[in-house]
Amino acid sequence: MKIDGITLKSDAVFAPIAGFSDVGLRALCAEAGAGLTYTEMVSAKGLMYGNEHTEDLLHTTDKEKVRVVQIFGSDPEIMARAAESEALSKFDIIDINMGCPVKKIVSNGEGSALLKTPSLAAEIVRTVRRADKPVTVKFRIGFDKNSRTGVDFARYMQDAGAAAITVHGRTREQFYEGTADWDYIAEVVRAVQIPVIANGDVNSKEDYEKIKAHTSAAGVMIARGALGNPQIFSQITGTAFPYKTRKDIVLKHIEIMSAFHSEIFVVNNMKKHVACYCKGLRGGKQLKLDVFAAKSLEELVRAVSDSDTLDAPVISG
Ligand SMILES: Cc1cc2nc3c(=O)[nH]c(=O)nc-3n(C[C@H](O)[C@H](O)[C@H](O)COP(=O)(O)O)c2cc1C
Repeated sequence: MKIDGITLKSDAVFAPIAGFSDVGLRALCAEAGAGLTYTEMVSAKGLMYGNEHTEDLLHTTDKEKVRVVQIFGSDPEIMARAAESEALSKFDIIDINMGCPVKKIVSNGEGSALLKTPSLAAEIVRTVRRADKPVTVKFRIGFDKNSRTGVDFARYMQDAGAAAITVHGRTREQFYEGTADWDYIAEVVRAVQIPVIANGDVNSKEDYEKIKAHTSAAGVMIARGALGNPQIFSQITGTAFPYKTRKDIVLKHIEIMSAFHSEIFVVNNMKKHVACYCKGLRGGKQLKLDVFAAKSLEELVRAVSDSDTLDAPVISG
């Protein structure tokens, strides 16, 4: 798969996920073979006004080969200035969030609210292209069941110069509930010439193969299926993944995070990741309790290292 002049090493990509797509999980997904790795959504205004929290989201390592930063906002000029800023210079692609369903975002005219204002959405894409990088857009199939406008919206994005689009097969009204509509994603694929990345309900190699066959999309984006499970990209792409047990992965995740973040940030952030890494495993409940009680990096690493639960082998490609 190619986005403008950039060739991806695989067409399976790791999604932007607020609170989870940190530098550690992105590095692990890239190492396992993800062709693109996205930061979580970052406020264009926050970038312009030097919000400290925003900078925390922008760390990256050499493991990530094609780096995508996702920005959100509704003011074309502010978004273009953010895209041109020094803080984003290390990213290869600028992705624009037009799918976030959260009320606070939507009531500001941002995220999935832009599905209702396609002319403004197109102006955002045209203006952000000033940054001289490929601009991509991630959106949903429509705002609600009575306005499934994703096909028209995709054409707007193509005409505005988007280099690729990602379509999440749910409406804003659905949030993350119900099943993703792969038939509708296939309609979008037929309607445009730019690469389409299909997204929604891909949790295994089998799902990846099914959604590709069903939609003929150029790429597949995986979000929740990669939480606690970066090896899914190794299973899909056949990339060698050097970690033998889940414990090896978790300890690596902690190590990468510690290179960039404060101790308290790492300890708090890793709690939710460990809950994902041990989901469904025998002894997972106790491990979660132990990790949630950790107050320092030392206690966190001890809880993980002492756990038999995380000795579960990693199935890689
Ligand atoms: C907790 C959470 C946070 C998310 N944050 C973002 C985000 O920052 N930007 C974005 O475009 N999508 C975000 N998403 C949506 C996912 O990228 C993806 O579109 C959605 O989960 C469907 O894919 P899946 O079925 O593989 O999980 C988020 C989803 C979840 C569950």
